[in-house]
Amino acid sequence: MTAATDAHLRRLPKVELHCHVEGAARASTIKELADKNGVTFPVDDPADLYRFSSLNQFLSIYDVVCASLQTADDFRRITYEALEDGAAAGVRYREMFFSPGFVIRLGVPVETVWDGVRAGLLDARADLDLNARMVLDFDKPTGPAHALEMAEFAASVGDRDVLVGMGADSVERGVDHLAFKTAFEHAGRQGLRRTIHAGEDGPVDNIAVAVRELGCERIDHGTCLLDDAALTAELAERQIPLTVCPTSNVTIAHIVPDIASHPFARQRAAGVLVTVNSDDPGMMAFDIADEYVAVARAYGYSLEDMEAISLAGIDASWAPADEKAALRTRFLSEFDGLRAELGCAPRAG
Ligand code: ADE
Ligand code: ZN
Repeated sequence: MTAATDAHLRRLPKVELHCHVEGAARASTIKELADKNGVTFPVDDPADLYRFSSLNQFLSIYDVVCASLQTADDFRRITYEALEDGAAAGVRYREMFFSPGFVIRLGVPVETVWDGVRAGLLDARADLDLNARMVLDFDKPTGPAHALEMAEFAASVGDRDVLVGMGADSVERGVDHLAFKTAFEHAGRQGLRRTIHAGEDGPVDNIAVAVRELGCERIDHGTCLLDDAALTAELAERQIPLTVCPTSNVTIAHIVPDIASHPFARQRAAGVLVTVNSDDPGMMAFDIADEYVAVARAYGYSLEDMEAISLAGIDASWAPADEKAALRTRFLSEFDGLRAELGCAPRAG
């Protein structure tokens, strides 16, 4: 068993599957875009807004932040910068959410959002040492008609290499998840992969509905999964991944007081395919490299554990099989190179 230093974990190659474009935006960029678009904040620096004591409060701040995003170029910029920041934290592959629901209600067309997000992604692919794909998240509290409209828009995009899937976010409480069946079925028929935020601030039944009724192939958060032993066994057996965001669950949704109390390690020990993710790194000022360090320290994980968690991200991703194989080869070679450079024992086997 090898101990992992913070510097080593920061440089470890990573996959990230749960990260929101809007929540990853730099506070300084949001401030510049707000000034450009004539949007006034209640504070001078949006970073001062980023204090939340509940998911509801977080989402109302998200609304204020999204009001600064008005043109395709605004979305291009935040998407590109989010990927730049991801690359600096060791991300080699990311599937990233964008949530048009917040700006649609302010009058920005979904086409404008997509044009910008797509351009930012393609520029990042050209310039940075990483690949990424996008997942369109609909806003659950806005209801099933919005969900279907987003599924139809996502299907119309056609280019599955860029827009790979559909997801859903915002609060769960008081939201009937079964009502999204039509939207998810439409997305599935059109070849979009499916995921959903479930079991974050809502009950474990939402996870059951997602995997048994909605055809979801991944669960975002899944924090309360262990409340249902049979469902936990089912997810482990079907290897349905959870995109876990431990720090977000502490600082945004306040589900657990600290990472040591988070069920991540117990979910992993139960055989569930768990991955580590940052959720909203801009708004939390905490990126996936910080998250790797926090997880390793909270559970006493070795470098071997953290390398295995990094590889689990490849398994859980929606990259094509040949890209997954290439990522795995690259990651193993980077693991070896980092161990040699930082004076650690070679990997076993
Ligand atoms: N949108 C951005 N972050 C979110 C979270 N943690 N839960 C639900 N919706 C979100
Ligand atoms: Zn999220």
